[in-house]
Amino acid sequence: MQIFIDTANVDEIREASSWGCVSGATTNPVIMSKEEGGYSFKEKIKEILEIVRNPVSVEVTAEDWKGMVEEARQYASWDENIVIKIPMGSEGLKAVNALEREENIRTNVTAIMATNQALLAALSGATYASIFFGRVSDMGYDAAQIVRETAELFRLHRVNTKIIVGSVRSLIDINRAFLAGADIVTVPYKFLKMMTENPKTEATIQEFNSIWRELRESGAVKVEATKERVSPTSLSFVRR
Ligand code: E4P
Repeated sequence: MQIFIDTANVDEIREASSWGCVSGATTNPVIMSKEEGGYSFKEKIKEILEIVRNPVSVEVTAEDWKGMVEEARQYASWDENIVIKIPMGSEGLKAVNALEREENIRTNVTAIMATNQALLAALSGATYASIFFGRVSDMGYDAAQIVRETAELFRLHRVNTKIIVGSVRSLIDINRAFLAGADIVTVPYKFLKMMTENPKTEATIQEFNSIWRELRESGAVKVEATKERVSPTSLSFVRR
């Protein structure tokens, strides 16, 4: 089970990466368009790679397979952690086949909305297959069922392609995707941040900290200042 971050925002990536629970990043042209203009695409991706030091998906925009392969070669030459996002479709599958089998370039087949598409992506040799949970739900289908079916088929037939769930629209999507068998869920920063928070957690911590503050201020507990690592023996309790 892994979480990727679905953004190109370097501050968000830096913050989330420092938590130690993010194992990769995914981008796409819409995500890139959200960044302040005037940047160099290559430099931005390199900056992300520098922070993440794990797979970073970069999407091609050519619409024919030869163009996709050409674009992929260029991006893949930037760093060994680059994964090429290839759109699902017959041209995309040709590109995946060529990149994975002939050039040893890892691919992530994107915009998958159905189990059939995921199966083809896997058989073409894709390293990752990205199922778009939110967009599948928008069409009125049960996205979790599609992930579950795909995961079961991959397990049954010993397929190595990893299932990424993207297009996350709420916190519950993340749980549902993992429970359905997703290997990876790629999550926008705002949801990652929300995952760290809960009003009851905040209230509980406030309760604990305020009682501790009172104990210290009243002199009931002394906490010696020390440069050494805090150990239970550096705390002295005074019975009241
Ligand atoms: C995943 O790889 C995509 O970048 C992303 O999750 C698409 O999500 P959207 O439906 O919000 O565009």
